[in-house]
Amino acid sequence: MCGIVGYVGQRAAEDVIIDGLRRLEYRGYDSAGIALFNEQELFVEKHAGRLSVLEGYLSANPHRDARLGIGHTRWATHGAPNDVNAHPHTGCTPRFAVVHNGIIENYNELRRELMARGHRFVTETDTEVLPHLLEEVYAGDLATAVFEVVAKLRGAYALAVVTSEDPNTVIAYRQDSPLIIGLGQGENFLASDIPALLPYTRQTVVLDDGDLAVLRSSGVSFYREGKEIEKDIFTVTWDEVAAEKAGFDHFMLKEIHEQPKALRDTLSGRILEQGTNLAEEIGLTSDMIKGINRVVVVACGTAYHAGLVGKTLIERLARIHVEVDYASEFRYRQPVLNPNDLVIIISQSGETADTLAALREAKRQGCTVVAITNVVGSSVSREGQHVLHTWAGPEIAVASTKAYTTQLAALTLMAIELGLGRKTLKVTRAQELLRGLREIPLQVGEIIAQAEKIKAVAEHVAKSEHVFFIGRGLDFNVALEGALKLKEISYIHAEAYAAGELKHGTLALITAGTPVICLFTQAELQEKMVSNVEVVRARGGYTVSISSCCADVTGTISDVEIRLPETDPLLAPMLSVVPLQLLAYYAAVTRGADVDKPRNLAKSVTVE
Ligand code: G6P
Repeated sequence: MCGIVGYVGQRAAEDVIIDGLRRLEYRGYDSAGIALFNEQELFVEKHAGRLSVLEGYLSANPHRDARLGIGHTRWATHGAPNDVNAHPHTGCTPRFAVVHNGIIENYNELRRELMARGHRFVTETDTEVLPHLLEEVYAGDLATAVFEVVAKLRGAYALAVVTSEDPNTVIAYRQDSPLIIGLGQGENFLASDIPALLPYTRQTVVLDDGDLAVLRSSGVSFYREGKEIEKDIFTVTWDEVAAEKAGFDHFMLKEIHEQPKALRDTLSGRILEQGTNLAEEIGLTSDMIKGINRVVVVACGTAYHAGLVGKTLIERLARIHVEVDYASEFRYRQPVLNPNDLVIIISQSGETADTLAALREAKRQGCTVVAITNVVGSSVSREGQHVLHTWAGPEIAVASTKAYTTQLAALTLMAIELGLGRKTLKVTRAQELLRGLREIPLQVGEIIAQAEKIKAVAEHVAKSEHVFFIGRGLDFNVALEGALKLKEISYIHAEAYAAGELKHGTLALITAGTPVICLFTQAELQEKMVSNVEVVRARGGYTVSISSCCADVTGTISDVEIRLPETDPLLAPMLSVVPLQLLAYYAAVTRGADVDKPRNLAKSVTVE
């Protein structure tokens, strides 16, 4: 996944690059490096550890006269995260410096060939083949050399390259990994993602696969297959402040608090008197909706959990059979699809490698593809045929929160639209749901206001090594997301179970004091759920109920009860997940974990 930043202009390049890398640290943070050029020498500094380690070295040994450079923050794929494997990489001589995001699949073969021709390798990375290849093909023009090198590569990669032979040029190349160019006055930028560019420019160009950009302080030119091309300029409308912490201790807490606004923005303009305008917005015709044979939802991580909720909503409201698949499984299982299948791809970043591959496979098999993504201009957003944007704003914390709730809002609208289009949903019922949906942002705010109570539960939970989440129906789907949140940021082992399934094995793990978080939002399943919780209590479990129904019983069978505002059971996931997000957050803080950058994880997963 890794973050890349490049700069050429009049400022001290190290300032721009370090600042940009800081904004991209969510992409990887096990090591960081920089290559700077000051018209005399190419200087490379790289270190294992967080960006602050690199910053420390730079402040002791500044290169403030350098006006051009590239930088990288790494999430290791090939080779341990140490100083040597950190990017940038140079070849046998320090003539070329390269930073790379992605994986070069045929690097072993290339490396063997290069070594046979006398090249000396010092790292375990796939990236190191690049500067060695450049040494072989460079004949005075860096762009031509990069084109020659990429022709030898297989895999996914975004590259930034500089050479001591040409002190005015940075080259960027994209193949299946994101890369954005930022256009300035007398200066130009490149980065893996927009937040790195925002302090400097809003004028951006999104590179497509196969695009090469030549950045000089005077301007940027774009090439494909060796020929110059024109690219559209995309003006970023969201604010830099939106990508900062705004006084919160962590991005995750800020993003939890941003949910009312994110939900409002996602719903805004999409709800009509008698339905939604979604089909029109994303270009689904009434015939297409009527002709859907099956829905297949494909996603990873939290987005997959949103897909599970989407399944229930679409099956209930539109009476279409829905399957939900992990993108990493879907793509390799030779999925059986037919042109009447509607494939819904969900991805916050729009760059997850497996999800993108699934999207391409669905298109290849002739399905209609709806892409739900939060990032305009991302690969998923550009390649999806029918794109439904969530308007959560930039999500920086690795643990996804506002992206999930806005994905649920988008899926609810989608299910309503499909139900109305197929006449399986009455207009009056749709109106009832839409009224409920309008209330959700405010209700999420009410839950966040109970943060202190949830914090007290979290302090108790933080002492445990095992925590269980149980629920039935939609509550089970949300329980899965709650367990994922807790384990990814607090490192507490957490499992979600369909409440009725507990007795078939997992109950053996419930002993005195084991926390069991019980979700009660589905009134029709209340009695069964109560029995399941009683069974836990009989084994001494510490029960926390999160409930919007069953007020008469949940209080009596719970050690702690967190009440949710009343809503329609189909809308409840958008509310019940919020206490689970806060629970995970405060448990992680109590345990002293690095909330926004959990160990071993990264925000944007552009490797398979
Ligand atoms: C990573 C993130 C998760 C996210 C998943 C899918 O694992 O840490 O929060 O749910 O990728 O990402 P996407 O951007 O495709 O939704």
